[in-house]
Amino acid sequence: MIEFYSLNKSDKNIKKKILKSISKVIDQNNFIMGSDVKVFENKFKYFCRSKFAISCANGTDALTMSLISLNLKPGSEVILPAMTYISTFYSVINANLKPVLVDINENDPLININEIKKKINKYTKVIIPVHLYGSVVEINKIKKITKGKNIFIVDDCAQAHGAEYSNGDRVGGSNLANISTFSLYPGKNLGAYGDAGIITTNNKNIAKKIAKIRNQGFIKKFNHETIGFNSRLDTIQASILNHKINNLKKLNKLRKKIASIYKKNIKNKNIKLIEYSDGSVFHQFVIRVKNRKLFLKYLIKRNIQYGLHYPHTINQTKFYKRKFSKIFFKNAENFAKQCVSLPIDPMLTIKEINYIVNTINKY
Ligand SMILES: Cc1ncc(COP(=O)(O)O)c(C=O)c1O
Repeated sequence: MIEFYSLNKSDKNIKKKILKSISKVIDQNNFIMGSDVKVFENKFKYFCRSKFAISCANGTDALTMSLISLNLKPGSEVILPAMTYISTFYSVINANLKPVLVDINENDPLININEIKKKINKYTKVIIPVHLYGSVVEINKIKKITKGKNIFIVDDCAQAHGAEYSNGDRVGGSNLANISTFSLYPGKNLGAYGDAGIITTNNKNIAKKIAKIRNQGFIKKFNHETIGFNSRLDTIQASILNHKINNLKKLNKLRKKIASIYKKNIKNKNIKLIEYSDGSVFHQFVIRVKNRKLFLKYLIKRNIQYGLHYPHTINQTKFYKRKFSKIFFKNAENFAKQCVSLPIDPMLTIKEINYIVNTINKY
């Protein structure tokens, strides 16, 4: 069976170092906010080329706390794509704000900028572009339509560690977004051995505020100044990430290589390739197929695991339907019906990649 993604394969060369670091944290008895946390924050901000990085417990908290840090009136509107992981949507609800969904593009799964334009009104306070599958939303185009309006951009980079805008800036490090949030969930391009997340920004006040929010509202112990979460990054996870971040560039390069082989060689009139931005880091490699059920059976029979990202849009979830009025997004809903994620584990062998390509071409 070709696994969809084998988490520990790519860490083989650093496993000993990781175990040594975990052992050191245990010996030091410093499990919460130990020195590895600061070291990781510094490494990550250096990697993104941002001024500040604040680690936290997961990517969902990263989004929620970022929204809370903006001090918006309850019910302020937040624009986000209808096709994303559910967390992007829940973060808006949990920050007591109003989600406003918009459709994606026809040929790529990113938020449609013309649709954003139609949804902007005096209540719009935030736009959350999602760099889905590691493909980058060109935020400068969004900024053109928000110019002169007091609208924050919080980009969801959960799937885009190391991805680049067309000008070469890394996501999370440019001045385009006010705040950028990352998940470090194990399956991400940079993943911990449990839940983890991080936020970057170039704004000192926002960074300070988020640092307080993630730790029960204080920086100086017992000096609770704001609303707080218990959303710290564990020292053990930070010690693991301090090794894993050194491999990120190399692993992203391998993902890009696999994607280029898929793009060049998958040729089947029943399969449609989707468009990715040039600076994509291919968190997922997604194709479209009309009769998906049949195709999935075909893959399993030939021992190829797959993923679905995502089988329904946000407005199709039970929770959304119960809380909000019915709404339809043509591109996102068509996409949800047809999308299939192929294995893009950086450690796939050439033989495995060719097998996947040939199997798909014979479908
Ligand atoms: C686009 C997107 N946003 C947010 C999240 C939430 O991250 P986490 O699972 O770390 O809370 C994820 C992770 O799956 C994601 O893919």
